[in-house]
Amino acid sequence: MANCLVCNNQFEPFISFGKQPIANGFLSEKDFKNEYFFEMKVGHCSACNMVQLLEQPKREQMFNENYAFFSSTSTYMEKHFKAFAENIKDTYLKSEDPFIVEMGSNDGIMLQNFKDWGIRHLGVEPSANVAKVAMSKGINSIVEFFDEEVSQKIVAEHGKADAFLTANVMCHIPYIHSIAKGIKNLLSEKGILAFEDPYMGEIMEKASYDQIYDEHVFFFSALSVQRLFEMHNMELIDVQPQITHGGSMRYILAHKGAYTVSDNVSKIIEKEKSLGIDNPKKYLELKKRIEKSRDDLIALLKQLKSEGKTIVGYGATSKSTTILNYCQVGTGLIDFISDTTPIKQGKFTPGMHIPVKKYEEFQKNHPDYALLFAWNHKNEILDKEGDFKGKWITHVPDVHVFGLEN
Ligand code: SAH
Ligand code: TMP
Ligand code: ZN
Repeated sequence: MANCLVCNNQFEPFISFGKQPIANGFLSEKDFKNEYFFEMKVGHCSACNMVQLLEQPKREQMFNENYAFFSSTSTYMEKHFKAFAENIKDTYLKSEDPFIVEMGSNDGIMLQNFKDWGIRHLGVEPSANVAKVAMSKGINSIVEFFDEEVSQKIVAEHGKADAFLTANVMCHIPYIHSIAKGIKNLLSEKGILAFEDPYMGEIMEKASYDQIYDEHVFFFSALSVQRLFEMHNMELIDVQPQITHGGSMRYILAHKGAYTVSDNVSKIIEKEKSLGIDNPKKYLELKKRIEKSRDDLIALLKQLKSEGKTIVGYGATSKSTTILNYCQVGTGLIDFISDTTPIKQGKFTPGMHIPVKKYEEFQKNHPDYALLFAWNHKNEILDKEGDFKGKWITHVPDVHVFGLEN
């Protein structure tokens, strides 16, 4: 039993993923013995429809000067954030000298665009190493966890904001009411909040349970987002599905009554009801599908291994931490994981301790099978891996093997 972080209603978890480590906590051998684990359970609050973790590590354990996720490792994501920034500029930045704030600006992947256009901007990013990369590019950033107090400081120094943007961050933050109050306080009269995160509707449709890891405390839907921000006198005015991160949703919100509400909102809410986002029984079905996915993956990997095949992981993603630990897949089944991020290379994966190696190791030693952990970047990866003659394994939307021909 737990209390909902949004509405305080009591709810039960529908699944446990067992002991899980810090998903981005790639580590050296000397740190194996002190590794931190927590029991990762997820529940659906039937009062407000927020799907959420019951327990989460402290924020400083996840976001610090060793944070391993650098946004700009994907060129597709660079294009995505340019289009996001353009859309906001063209649709909402109507004032003479607009000011925009981004929460979780990381290495500056989105703010770079506002900087290039000469628009006043500020990134709020607590992980000092990634923030430093943004600052070195001349992007205005402060190393802080955004909350209500930080919002007041920003207003005092820069005035109100015309847009508050954030991607793949809102769902990380359990102190969500402090964030909502901070945003409400920061936005000008016609100011908008635009944020996007992995979408609960997609997880429900694809049983893509690897979206669930320590950093993601919330799995949003239009139903739950609408309810959460109503509590702060804000209104969901539009929703725009995105293909990023395996299926996300962008939510646009404003002060209540400031804009007309798009028909998209009621349409998506109808769809969510038909998917069962508000139906506790659907979460029990989801649990069964997740367990089947786990059993199928273990069986496939064991089968291939018994045939003497080599298997390498592609992309040491944060998502892969959930799969590896939930399925208890280690070096007995996967030789190593290839990743292009320097901070991860030469280290071991959280919990299961599979070596992470440079991308060149994959290119030099093509395995028989590559397990596509970075499935959300599938198109970008398949485009560049034309030379790979082995087979790919994915678990989304069900466990299967495919070659380049399909
Ligand atoms: N927006 C980027 C980065 C997402 S990763 C992208 O979509 O690629 C999540 C980021 O949120 C991390 O860089 C983390 O340091 C940051 N973060 C976590 N809590 C935060 C908070 N309270 N305020 C601002 N940023 C936060
Ligand atoms: P993400 O799924 O959280 O975006 O993380 C993607 C990870 O995959 C990141 O560590 C970088 C890695 N990666 C590669 O190794 N090769 C690639 O071509 C891409 C797109 C990502
Ligand atoms: Zn609730």
